[in-house]
Amino acid sequence: PYDATPFLPRRGGIPAHRAAAAGCQGCPLHRDATGTVFGRGDPHARLMLVGEQPGDQEDREGVPFVGPAGRLLSRALREAGIDEEGLYVTNAVKHFKFTEDATRKRRIHKAPSLRETLACRPWLMAELRLVSPELVVTLGATAGRALLGPSFRVGADRGVPRPLTDAGEGTDTRVLATVHPSAVLRARDRDDMYAGLVADLRVAADAL
Ligand code: URA
Ligand code: SF4
Repeated sequence: PYDATPFLPRRGGIPAHRAAAAGCQGCPLHRDATGTVFGRGDPHARLMLVGEQPGDQEDREGVPFVGPAGRLLSRALREAGIDEEGLYVTNAVKHFKFTEDATRKRRIHKAPSLRETLACRPWLMAELRLVSPELVVTLGATAGRALLGPSFRVGADRGVPRPLTDAGEGTDTRVLATVHPSAVLRARDRDDMYAGLVADLRVAADAL
């Protein structure tokens, strides 16, 4: 089965894990992507954000949330009064999954499968254990499923902080789900959805 576990280092902090993740072959997604996009930010952050997977620009630069979704997220965080400097930001899946369009000029995002998400989950759990944030905000369905289980639904489960049951012994990390910034960019009711994202991020800020 697909599984990142054999590639995890036995010891070390975030830098050791980032270095090891560069060589992960736990699922087929490493084959076509440029490289692993590991988390960035404060390794002692009180608030951790989890997206889906790197996009085209993130894949090229090797850093999460530097493209259009990242710019929208930055704006929403600012509006919610959250200082991006103090955050740890990562993705549920660390390689970019895409298809090429007919002209092979554009790489089109494809959602990761549950298998790929579960394969990559050991990296996310290691980041959770090492950063040990007070609160995790999941952005969209993939991150929600990774941390709240396969029956997670954004619509039903968003906006309320709840205990993260398998964060590990002795941690009391909570998790709050919200929409994905890319979904806001695609939405027809973009303004409403953006307002919802900001409202959820305000709840997150108040929960710290
Ligand atoms: N979307 C994500 O979920 N993560 C990124 O890093 C960029 C876009
Ligand atoms: Fe490893 Fe995750 Fe990349 Fe799959 S997506 S190869 S599990 S880092």
